[in-house]
Amino acid sequence: MSTQTGPSDLAALDLTNLDLFAEGPPHELFARMRTESPVHWNNTADGPGFWSLTRGQDIVHVSQDPATFSPARGGIFFRPDTLVPLEVGQRDFMLWKDPPEHSRYRAVITTFCLPRTLILVDQVIEGIVAETVDAVAGRGACDIATDIAMPVPLKVVARLFGAPDEDLDQLNRWTKDIEQGITHDMNMTRSVEEMGIYCAKLVGNQVIHGVDSLANTLAQPDESGERRLSESEIAAYFGMLLFVGNNHPRNAISHAVHTLLQHPDQLAVLRDDPVKLRPTRSGLAPVALEELMRWSTPVNYLARTATVDTQVGETPVKTGERLVMWYASASRDPEVFPGADRFDVGRARCNPPHYAFGGGGEYFCQGAALTYRMLSVTLREVLRRMPGIELAGPVTYEPSAFVNAITSLPVRFKPTG
Ligand code: HEM
Repeated sequence: MSTQTGPSDLAALDLTNLDLFAEGPPHELFARMRTESPVHWNNTADGPGFWSLTRGQDIVHVSQDPATFSPARGGIFFRPDTLVPLEVGQRDFMLWKDPPEHSRYRAVITTFCLPRTLILVDQVIEGIVAETVDAVAGRGACDIATDIAMPVPLKVVARLFGAPDEDLDQLNRWTKDIEQGITHDMNMTRSVEEMGIYCAKLVGNQVIHGVDSLANTLAQPDESGERRLSESEIAAYFGMLLFVGNNHPRNAISHAVHTLLQHPDQLAVLRDDPVKLRPTRSGLAPVALEELMRWSTPVNYLARTATVDTQVGETPVKTGERLVMWYASASRDPEVFPGADRFDVGRARCNPPHYAFGGGGEYFCQGAALTYRMLSVTLREVLRRMPGIELAGPVTYEPSAFVNAITSLPVRFKPTG
């Protein structure tokens, strides 16, 4: 079987096979599926199987109808008990919850998504990016994945939580634990419990002037004085934010640099006019950043379960059947993005601009604006402080069906002071 195009008969395809993701998402296979079998039944060796959705329109349909396509019923990964047992996910994790309960959890961190908060966070991002790039700019060589893309979001998220720098290694280990737990279908309940105990110790720390820390926010009572979240919910919330806040922006940054190195004409456009990388003060992303997110789409998939007999496109779906939404495929769907296989930082704005932050609606990523800000400042500084940047060795990937992760991106450049 070719890992790029899959088996000759798609009936034999199993997208839980990590070999298919050895060098990132199998884009040729996804293109074939969008044409031959856009709502495709995937048999798995160890479970009941699932529907694979590869077209943008079907992912929007499923994402925006959680009453019919529930995250709670069977969890959000290939297998219901991945990371934590299903009943723990349903009890404690926001992304597993159905409306209307889901909205109550979503509201807990609303202030962190407001432009007025993010403007205060901008200064922190600027400082962290400057010190991170400073540490390598004089060397003339570095690994973008480990020297830049890993520390920038790690330090930003640590500061948002009120965590001290000496804990960065531990925070990074937990991020890795969750990633491995999801990719390799492991139970990480113990790590999540440890995170809860740790998060409780951060309450009271105040590290960004004018912004209450995320740890304080999670521990806050509601208007009636009741605790909004139980101890186990705080642990789950902390674990989720730590993971998504670190892992996904890290992958977005590595992919953005790699993509630009593979498209020198596009890199030149952004180097000559860095304003094309700057979000507005309200957080609206410029087309160039949207295009970088479309191209890389760091989260490959999330899953739902049908609550009634229904259909997706022309295909009937039965109650209890699971559906996997392949965002990585939808972001390259030519029905949504004209010339989808062309990377173009000046393309006409599409709606949606990509599926990296999900299929829209109730569960749309709350960290989108923060991600754009980290990506914008990091790319601006990489292009400014690393003139002549070019690949200096093999690029390696995490073989994962869930995340699109670069593990090493060695580069060389002209040293700057
Ligand atoms: C490259 C960066 C990121 C990507 C690709 C990404 C992707 C996603 C996706 C695909 C979803 C689920 C959407 C759905 O189920 O329909 C999501 C949800 C979420 N993301 Fe992100 N994310 C990123 C960064 C962040 C950051 C930095 C944060 C915050 C620190 C964050 C916080 C959240 C939260 C809280 C949710 C749950 C929303 C809800 O259930 O209401 N994300 N993200």
